[in-house]
Amino acid sequence: VRAEAETAGGSGINPAIRKEEAKVVDTVLAGELSKPLTPYCRCWRSGTFPLCDGSHVKHNKATGDNVGPLLVKK
Ligand code: FES
Repeated sequence: VRAEAETAGGSGINPAIRKEEAKVVDTVLAGELSKPLTPYCRCWRSGTFPLCDGSHVKHNKATGDNVGPLLVKK
């Protein structure tokens, strides 16, 4: 998949998460969330993907990007 993305003219968004899958898709049942507010990763750098682990802070500092999590309220 990575080679296809590079061939298509881009480097891709996802650098390493579940690259063996054709498409990374997750389903969350909001009613089953354990916390009132759960952060989900949108930067593709989290070590706990699909949950945010704060890795976006390092990514933003290194790249000048401004990505942050999706906050899902229970
Ligand atoms: Fe990816 Fe926080 S770690 S948005």
